[in-house]
Amino acid sequence: MIFDEIIDRRGTHCSKWDTMEAVYGVPADKGLAMWVADMDFRPPRCVLDAVQAQVDHGVIGYFGDESAYREAIRWWMETRHGWQLDPSHIFTTHGLVNGTAMCVDTFTQPGDGVVLFTPVYHAFARVIAANNRRVVECEMVQRDGRYEMDFDAYDAQMDGSETMLILCSPHNPGGRVWSRGELAAVAAFAKRHNLIIVSDEIHHDLVMPGHHHIPMTHIEGIEDRLVMMTATTKTFNIAGSHSGNVIISDPDLRAQFAQRMKGLGLSPNSFGLFMATAAYSSEGAAWVDNLVQYLDGNRQLFDAGVNAIPGLSSMPLEATYLSWVDFSGTGMPRAEFTRRVEQDACIAVNHGPTFGKGGEDWLRFNIATPRARVQEAVERLASAFGDLQ
Ligand SMILES: Cc1ncc(COP(=O)(O)O)c(C=O)c1O
Repeated sequence: MIFDEIIDRRGTHCSKWDTMEAVYGVPADKGLAMWVADMDFRPPRCVLDAVQAQVDHGVIGYFGDESAYREAIRWWMETRHGWQLDPSHIFTTHGLVNGTAMCVDTFTQPGDGVVLFTPVYHAFARVIAANNRRVVECEMVQRDGRYEMDFDAYDAQMDGSETMLILCSPHNPGGRVWSRGELAAVAAFAKRHNLIIVSDEIHHDLVMPGHHHIPMTHIEGIEDRLVMMTATTKTFNIAGSHSGNVIISDPDLRAQFAQRMKGLGLSPNSFGLFMATAAYSSEGAAWVDNLVQYLDGNRQLFDAGVNAIPGLSSMPLEATYLSWVDFSGTGMPRAEFTRRVEQDACIAVNHGPTFGKGGEDWLRFNIATPRARVQEAVERLASAFGDLQ
């Protein structure tokens, strides 16, 4: 299996492997990097060939004619997600953190509240705060071991200064694939409080067998307040290309966004366009199908190992390769369970509190790595918490 190949990423300016010692003190020589959300796999051949063709030609100039690129996006969304989009509604940003920041900047004012369902991807709060907007944390509740939303509580929390909600669908961390009913409830909440909805669907291709992602655009009655965001980068492991798509069907919102892109002088990097065009293809689709099977196997191995350790409990992933593990059952203070993971097991992970309210007792493990490493991680954790056995 191609995904079993161990590829040493150390010494390649790799954020996940080359900075874990500086960030977490996890030794580079024996550490396992399970934090930053990229995978330790090569993308499919068609994507590498697209880059190689540029190198072989040798002249890296400005990109022209986006029609094939846009058609590839249209095709992918239609065949993989049943979403018929108009290619003229697509913007290309420098990734989706940039897309999020552009939305906050374009559609809200300084001081406005931006709603997040926490715990959630940490960069959302970072860009909201850095743009002098207010992060409004609506904490999710756990029912039957998975996250759900509690709109009665959120209604009571709103003070009228909120203008935007950022939805993470599927959700990171915890891996929820939101049901149609849940998405309709998000839409109704946004309408009640007059919020623009930014739906970050970057994880939409990485959905575990038995689950089905519904694009937010399939929920009726929110066309005039909806911004969709997608990307090839998580799906195909090409995050270094820093490209993503903001897709807006409402003409007024689209015109405002276009104006802001122009104002900031933003236009895409040609490598992102070449790679995305190659990725959104039948070869890319077959690769993703195999990838998801492999990730599902990793998930099962990781869950079985972690849940066998008394006090540790992982949330069953419906999507994403980001396992979310609850350490509250250990009874240990956060500093102690984190120390054991980082210093005893030598595993670099994301700390729960960075994801906002509700993340305090959790750590996030990236399991998109060859299975032998997942096995190694599970063994190291069992030993680091061996006194609980
Ligand atoms: C929900 C979500 N959005 C965006 C990103 C990052 O997007 P980009 O690399 O395109 O800025 C991540 C990365 O983990 C993510 O989980």
